[in-house]
Amino acid sequence: MATDIADYIRRLPKAELHIHIEGSLEPELMFSLAAKHGIKLPYADVEAVRRAYEFHNLQEFLDIYYAGAAVLVERSDFRDLMFAYLKRAHADGVVHSEIFFDPQTHTARGISTGTVIQGLTDGMAEGKRAFGITSELILCFLRHLSEEEAFKTLELAMPYRRLFIGVGLDSSEVGHPPAKFERVFARARELGLRVVAHAGEEGPPAYVTEALDLLKTERIDHGVRSEADPALCKRLAKMQMPLTVCPLSNVKLAVFKKASDHNLKRLMDLGLMVTVNSDDPAYFGGYMQDNFMAMAEGLKLTSAELKTLAANSITASFLPEPAKKQWLARIEGVAA
Ligand code: HPA
Ligand code: ZN
Repeated sequence: MATDIADYIRRLPKAELHIHIEGSLEPELMFSLAAKHGIKLPYADVEAVRRAYEFHNLQEFLDIYYAGAAVLVERSDFRDLMFAYLKRAHADGVVHSEIFFDPQTHTARGISTGTVIQGLTDGMAEGKRAFGITSELILCFLRHLSEEEAFKTLELAMPYRRLFIGVGLDSSEVGHPPAKFERVFARARELGLRVVAHAGEEGPPAYVTEALDLLKTERIDHGVRSEADPALCKRLAKMQMPLTVCPLSNVKLAVFKKASDHNLKRLMDLGLMVTVNSDDPAYFGGYMQDNFMAMAEGLKLTSAELKTLAANSITASFLPEPAKKQWLARIEGVAA
């Protein structure tokens, strides 16, 4: 018997490859942590927070997102944040997640890198125990700050080197091209770290090209604006360079007007290795299931296309090859 599409999506094992842990801070947890630390929020209640989540571009979102992170103070706060995300991701059929965190958002407030990384790691261990979900951390540099500050951030994280697998690049894209971080990414690669970067979310296709050529990234986060450059699309398809696309984020930040305008299917049809992710689910109105559903319905994706997206997420992950093989076989066996 044919099952409904929502159930099919949930049953597909999936990896999430583009999620900012600070962007999974739900208003309820924000309020409870604010009360715990005696922090006064500029909102009357949870509903007022949700009403404030009206964005017209990336910067409007980032201003609110960085302010919200101020309630994260103690190691256990980071643990709680991580555990809540993994629980939610598991409910959507996510079996593995590679999770961004922004140390500079916290060190700027006097919170140590160790508090952040150890707290997140506590939550990941608990998520593994409770739900069997595996996860890794990716340290992101804030691109609106200097490369020198990125170097300092990497150095502060070195005592915890075994607790994160890679580095990424996020925050305000336009005016802060990948070229600005060429040296710190070279250093990260020397240290054996995996490398990814946000590019082509609001920025031009040239930023995607820079991320590939100068940062030597292994995935491009977002990358949807590559479509404007056919030669770049050809190159991305040929390399099978993964794009970690975030549909609801793109709609909320006005990269596309509505889900049915999204270019995810056009990029798939050009042969690109596209994945679906939630970016900042507490702010953009949904976790993995909602992002998949927005594309399944908005772009009328077939069950075969949905299966390809799930398989791409595993292929594009940094899981060891035997684990990839196992999950890919499991995905193959899921009946529509
Ligand atoms: N883009 C850039 N920086 C970010 C994002 C994003 O989508 N989410 C959190 N930080
Ligand atoms: Zn992002």
